Amino acid sequence: MAWQRRSFRGTNLARALNVADLRELARRRIPRFVFEYVDGGAEDEVTLRGNRAAFDRLRLLPRTLIDTAARHQRTQILATAAQAPMVIAPTGFNGMVYTQGDLVLARAAARWGIPFTLSTVSTVPLEEVAKSAGGRLWMQLYVMKDRAIARDIMQRAAACGYEALVFTTDANVFGNREWDQRGYRSPGKPTLQTMFNTLRHPRWLASVMVRNGMPRFRNLESFLPPAAMTALGGSTVIPKLFDATLSWDDISWIRQLWRGKLLIKGVLTVADAERAASLGCDGIVVTNHGGRQLDSCVAPMDVLPEIVAAVGGRLAVLLDSGVRRGTDIAKALALGAQAVMIGRPTLYGLAAGGEAGVERALSILTTEFDRVLGQLGCNQVADLKPEHVRRR
Ligand SMILES: Cc1cc2nc3c(=O)[nH]c(=O)nc-3n(C[C@H](O)[C@H](O)[C@H](O)COP(=O)(O)O)c2cc1C
Repeated sequence: MAWQRRSFRGTNLARALNVADLRELARRRIPRFVFEYVDGGAEDEVTLRGNRAAFDRLRLLPRTLIDTAARHQRTQILATAAQAPMVIAPTGFNGMVYTQGDLVLARAAARWGIPFTLSTVSTVPLEEVAKSAGGRLWMQLYVMKDRAIARDIMQRAAACGYEALVFTTDANVFGNREWDQRGYRSPGKPTLQTMFNTLRHPRWLASVMVRNGMPRFRNLESFLPPAAMTALGGSTVIPKLFDATLSWDDISWIRQLWRGKLLIKGVLTVADAERAASLGCDGIVVTNHGGRQLDSCVAPMDVLPEIVAAVGGRLAVLLDSGVRRGTDIAKALALGAQAVMIGRPTLYGLAAGGEAGVERALSILTTEFDRVLGQLGCNQVADLKPEHVRRR
C-alpha cells in the first residue's frame, strides 16, 4: 500500500508550518459556505489549478558560494519603501471570515510594512480603516452600473488619503462560482445543510453574526437597498450591479476624479499592458482574480515575462493568483514583478486565528522568501534575475 502522508491536524497556529496548514485550520474554523466562498474558483476550477501549475512548471536555478548573511527583503513598491515585496490583495466580505476582518488585515499589513488594499465591497467603511489602521492603504474600485458609486468611493478615498486606486477590470461580468452557490437553495437563502453546518461553528456564529450583527457592505450604504446590504443578501444583488459597458474610455473619467496613483488590476496581455502604459497608469496587476472569474484562463505567471519585456520600464508590474510559497514570490520577482499580491493566504490566516492568524501567514511567507533568497545566492530583491528561473 502506498505510504499516506498526513496533513496538518493541529489547532495551534504556531504549529501551522505553511499556508496549506493554515488553509486546513481555516477549513475547520469557519462554516463550509464561508470557506467555499473564500477557497473556490469559477466553474471547473481549471484556472485555479492552472495558477499553481504555472508556478510548479518553473524551477529555480541557484548560484553557489555567495555570502548572503546580510540579506533582506526591503524594496520599493510604486516608488515607496516596503518591508517586503508583498501587498495584501483586495478581498470583499472579509467580515464574514472574521469580525472586522478588513481592519485586522490592514493593521497586520501596517505592522509588516506592506500595503493593504481595501475592497469596494468591504465590511468596514473605508474611513474607519483609514482612521484606525495606519500604514500604506490602497483602495480597490469596482465600477458598477450606477457610476455614482464609483465617484463616491474615489472622492471618499481621496479625502482619507488613500495612496493608490486599484481599478479592477476583470469583473465586468461576474464569475460563475458554483461551489459558492451550492450553499444556497436559492439566491441569498442558505440550504438546511448550510444552516446545520453553521450551527456547528458556535464561535464563528457568536463573533461574526451575533456580537456585531451580520456583516454589511459599509462602503455602499447610501446606494444599496437595506435587504441587499448584508453579505448574505448582497451575494445575490452585487453580481447584478457589475457593468458590462466598462471600457478603456472610462480611464480618463477615473483620472479626472482620482489624482493619486492608479493601477489596473486585470491585465493578462501585452496589448492591454501597453494600453495601460500609454494612458499613464502607474501600475498593472497581472492577475486572473485568483481563478474566480474566467475559467480556463491563462495563468499570470505564464504571461508575466512578455508583459514585463513590453512595459516593465514604464510602469510597475505586480502579479497575483496562486502565490502560496516563498519560492513563488522569488519566481515572480525574478521574472520582473515588482511585488506580488496575496489573496487567500492571509484570508486563511484570518479565518484560522484572526490577528494572530494573519501574522502567521505573513510570517510564513516572509520567512520562506528570506530562506529562498539565501539559497539562491541573493542578498536582496534586486539580485533576483530571470536567470534564476528555468521552465521545466
Ligand atoms: C474571497 C475573495 C474575495 C475577493 N474579492 C475581491 C474584490 O472585492 N476585489 C478584487 O479586485 N479582487 C477580489 N478578489 C481577488 C483578489 O484580489 C486576488 O486577485 C486573488 O485572491 C489572488 O489570488 P490568490 O487568492 O490565489 O492569492 C477576491 C479574492 C478572494 C479569494
